Amino acid sequence: MVETRSERARELFAPLGPTYDRYARLLSLGQDPRWRRFLVSRLPVGPDEVVLDVATGTAAVALELVRQKACSVVGVDQSQEMLEEARRRLRLAAETERVRLVEASAGEVPFEDCSFDGLTAAYLLRYLDDLPAGLRELARVLRPGATAAALDFGVPPATLPRAAWNLYVDIGLPAVGGAISPGWREVGRFLGTSIREFDARFPLPRLLALWREAGFDDVRARRLSLGGCTVVWGRRA
Ligand SMILES: C[S@@+](CC[C@H](N)C(=O)[O-])C[C@H]1O[C@@H](n2cnc3c(N)ncnc32)[C@H](O)[C@@H]1O
Repeated sequence: MVETRSERARELFAPLGPTYDRYARLLSLGQDPRWRRFLVSRLPVGPDEVVLDVATGTAAVALELVRQKACSVVGVDQSQEMLEEARRRLRLAAETERVRLVEASAGEVPFEDCSFDGLTAAYLLRYLDDLPAGLRELARVLRPGATAAALDFGVPPATLPRAAWNLYVDIGLPAVGGAISPGWREVGRFLGTSIREFDARFPLPRLLALWREAGFDDVRARRLSLGGCTVVWGRRA
């Protein structure tokens, strides 16, 4: 039996690696490359700097970081299977030597304090077992003044977009996921509940307060695609 959110994530992502990029894009209705570009644009880093990309998965954000900022990237993920796909993808990319991959949990990253000049995390926070402790752990490995940025799905706040979103996550996602494979059926069933639960436990003002309590200043947020995605970023105090 699965006990924790991070164990649930491990189980959920194990079968998805080889098809993740194609179907993640489809299920976000083509939006997630744009969301990742915005996430990466929040980081004021350059070619001599090193960014930690937590929950790197198949390295989509890591590659966007190299392309947009020409920085070096360390990508961390707890899923061996997702990292395997990241390695395959990196072998085909020109930016390979700029990205190093490490298998580890976001709750305890194997790096010294103040090791990184920036940090990104796409679709991670919902899977953390202890969000306040997780944010503190991410702050720990950033040098003072460095920026962290995280994105995740959100529940659109306005009535009409929320009604459309409800239909999509309750009917569209399970139907499309089920048509792809058993692994994606699980994702299709799981996502709506997971996003709503996170939004109820950590409404945006509470989430921003947790970032500040974890040691970030100038914490800001932007909702994208009518609130279907929320990006939060802040500077390590
Ligand atoms: C939806 S994927 C996102 C991957 C990538 N960031 C992207 O934008 O495509 C979520 C990733 O988070 C990883 N993950 C979830 N919980 C984690 C944890 N506690 N520690 C490390 N990785 C985690 C999963 O293994 C999976 O690869």
